[in-house]
Amino acid sequence: MRIIKTKSYEEMSKKAANIIASVVTLKPDCMLGLATGSSPIGTYDELVKKYEAGDLDFSEVTTVNLDEYKGLPKENEQSYYYFMHEYLFDKVNINPEKTYLPDGTNLNSEEEAARYEALVQSLGTVDLQLLGLGRNGHIGFNEPGDHFEDGTHCVDLKESTIEANKRFFESADDVPKQAYSMGIGTIMRSKKILLVVSGEEKAQALKDSIYGPVTPEVPGSILRFHPDVTIIADEAAMSLIK
Ligand code: F6R
Repeated sequence: MRIIKTKSYEEMSKKAANIIASVVTLKPDCMLGLATGSSPIGTYDELVKKYEAGDLDFSEVTTVNLDEYKGLPKENEQSYYYFMHEYLFDKVNINPEKTYLPDGTNLNSEEEAARYEALVQSLGTVDLQLLGLGRNGHIGFNEPGDHFEDGTHCVDLKESTIEANKRFFESADDVPKQAYSMGIGTIMRSKKILLVVSGEEKAQALKDSIYGPVTPEVPGSILRFHPDVTIIADEAAMSLIK
């Protein structure tokens, strides 16, 4: 596990984008696993800049996203489909037909989880999976629990996650209560993992993930069992780590 400490969110984002750019440059037809939320926005901005400067070509890249809210249609501004188009897909030359997310409008959880899992597996191995860390230690929407879920599944979001994410919605009542998420097994099968963490509110979860016991109570702790993880975290997120 490589840990890179940065002074700021901006520096974290630049470093993360450099790593993703190197993967795309070395393997133009790579498969990227992508995340949403505030953590990767700066990284996507930096990737867009590299594309605009002519330094990066996404035309052969395939992407699979970690998660999607159950019940939100693509046109909903809070859907992760919308987010990905807003921050990355519509701003670079990626082929939209090679970008995949769980389908939030399929309300049949078992069917959607099985469909997405089979799809991701059929596409091959994720070359680099980008992750953010939840304040409660979740990765993807794998919430703290008593076991690690292997494949894509439907998650009941924890109250703390609904609280954390209500900033994107009009009120906590508008935050969907469920989401589809890749499982821990799906994430761990990626060749490389890149975790970006910013802000003091993540400090405890980051410390627990890196130094606490490996336990499904802190889903991020499982990353210690992965052979190629890079964590890029700003000073605030690292503030509890000496
Ligand atoms: C989003 C995802 C989540 C977020 C996490 C942190 O696709 O998988 O695990 O990465 O909730 O969210 P932010 O970055 O908004 O603090």
